[in-house]
Amino acid sequence: MIFTVAIDGPAAAGKGTISRAVAAHFGFAHLDTGLLYRAVGAKGGDAVAAARALAPADLERGDLRSAEAGAAASRVAAIPEVRQALVDFQRDFARAEGGAVLDGRDIGTVICPEAEVKLFVTASDEVRAHRRWLELRDSGEAVGEAEVLAQLRERDRRDSERAAAPMKPAADAVLLDTSELSIDAAVAKAIGYVEMKL
Ligand code: C5P
Repeated sequence: MIFTVAIDGPAAAGKGTISRAVAAHFGFAHLDTGLLYRAVGAKGGDAVAAARALAPADLERGDLRSAEAGAAASRVAAIPEVRQALVDFQRDFARAEGGAVLDGRDIGTVICPEAEVKLFVTASDEVRAHRRWLELRDSGEAVGEAEVLAQLRERDRRDSERAAAPMKPAADAVLLDTSELSIDAAVAKAIGYVEMKL
């Protein structure tokens, strides 16, 4: 079976958690496309060359989840040639036999406009900042919540205002606001949307 679930949205809205849970529930493969941009940003040097040469081992680096890596990712992600170099890998993943969930910013709009299911996951800025702050604290990064909020807003602004594949919901995406939802409730809604299309 070939079946693509596209899950887009801003940082810390719950995309990753929802994507992993949906993939596990249906036995689909999962690709966190943010990791591709994080890996390119973390390589340093010529970002276009880094994107063209990206190898699976580059996605295994331990430092890709940091706030710094997120900021570097969002800078290289604005370069059209970087995005172009990553398209085929993502499309091949999306259409591989067995079903796939991809999460990112432009999956429903640019990478997989034909995806069977498109979700755009959001939450208020404050809720997202609080969640990200908890994550960073648990991973040992000492940052203030106000600083996390400012960084998130800066990254969202860059991601939604860039010319190349800006972050935005596809016209036919279902909006899922997780501000007031528990993880279980958000996951259950997402699974329900997929079930309707299967
Ligand atoms: O999702 P994550 O926070 O890991 O993404 C890091 C950055 O990578 C985003 O802020 C965005 O600039 C970029 N990105 C993108 N398109 C995607 C996934 C991530 O531009 N599909």
